[in-house]
Amino acid sequence: MADESAKGVLGHLPPWPRKELNNSVIAMEQAYRQRKGLPPLSDADIEALKAGQPMSWEAGGSGAVSAAPAVPAAASPAAPAAVATPPAAAPTVTASSNGNISAEVAGWVAQGKKWSKSAIAAEQARRGRKSLPPLNDAEITALLGEPAEAAPAAAPATAAAVAATPRPSAPAVLASSAASVARSGASTRYVGTPAVGTSKAAAAGGLAAIGPEDNEVNQARRRMVWASVGAFLTAWFLAFFRFFLPRTLFEPATSFKIGYPEEYGLGVDTKWQQKFRIWVDRTPDRIFVIYARCTHLGCTPDWKPSENKFKCPCHGSGYDSEGVNFEGPAPRPMDRAHVEVAADGQILVDVSRLYQWPKGQPSQFNDDGAYLRA
Ligand code: FES
Repeated sequence: MADESAKGVLGHLPPWPRKELNNSVIAMEQAYRQRKGLPPLSDADIEALKAGQPMSWEAGGSGAVSAAPAVPAAASPAAPAAVATPPAAAPTVTASSNGNISAEVAGWVAQGKKWSKSAIAAEQARRGRKSLPPLNDAEITALLGEPAEAAPAAAPATAAAVAATPRPSAPAVLASSAASVARSGASTRYVGTPAVGTSKAAAAGGLAAIGPEDNEVNQARRRMVWASVGAFLTAWFLAFFRFFLPRTLFEPATSFKIGYPEEYGLGVDTKWQQKFRIWVDRTPDRIFVIYARCTHLGCTPDWKPSENKFKCPCHGSGYDSEGVNFEGPAPRPMDRAHVEVAADGQILVDVSRLYQWPKGQPSQFNDDGAYLRA
């Protein structure tokens, strides 16, 4: 700590006495120091700034703490003794190895947030990097907030340690923090910063990334993540299962009624072309139904009443008014659908039963079912 005192630089920080500083101000100060190549604030300095206390090097170097108005003589009986103690004996981390709780840890515990095991592991690693004494069992127990038997005993010891700390930086505050720990019977919880491990500001502030805590917010986040994963897998499984189901086309019925024979006059009636793809054709002695499909490659021809013929738009095949081909590539007449009179007297058409006249073969157009007598 003596080395740190020697490195103390105020930077952009307001001089002591000053109010408590929030994380943003501290982060900006850290960023400023990084830009200017100044030594960053230590964790102890950050805690002191947050608590509105003088930093250790301020206390030892300038003596401004002695003039701090925040230490009323009546506030604590230990205060005068603490203020009178020479600042040279101001180690904030002194008891880590002997089982007591150091003042630094007591300050963390007094802030009331419980540490996770990963946070403690990160702190141990940090101490290892900086050649600081590791956290002892009592400190770890206090940071974890576990109700150990030693906690009540350790708490008064902490209070005593804090009160005896020669650091003149608002000892009344430290004493009251330790007293709050003592009142609770055991330390409860601590976290360095709300943004630990997640915020650029925290990183700029030199605060350790200690990983997510096991609190309600993080538990809710985990539940949301698992719910999303479950929903994704469910959707994926349903899509996979759908692959095994048959691809079905729901086509219109192939058998249907088209009204009474009296409704159709001589010639071609196209009113069912769009719905059923048929034309109703009446001659002086017959009624038959032409299936509207070109016998070349399957296009739907157009009825040309002015020319009294069907004309295929695809390759130009022509059919007369009874669907018999006479021009173009069509090889044979268009097919005719099965027709019969239903029980109610209407014409019943079945396009699944077609009558054909294949090229060079006998015609089926005179078969029963291929026409109705007019
Ligand atoms: S499909 Fe009708 S002429 Fe080719």
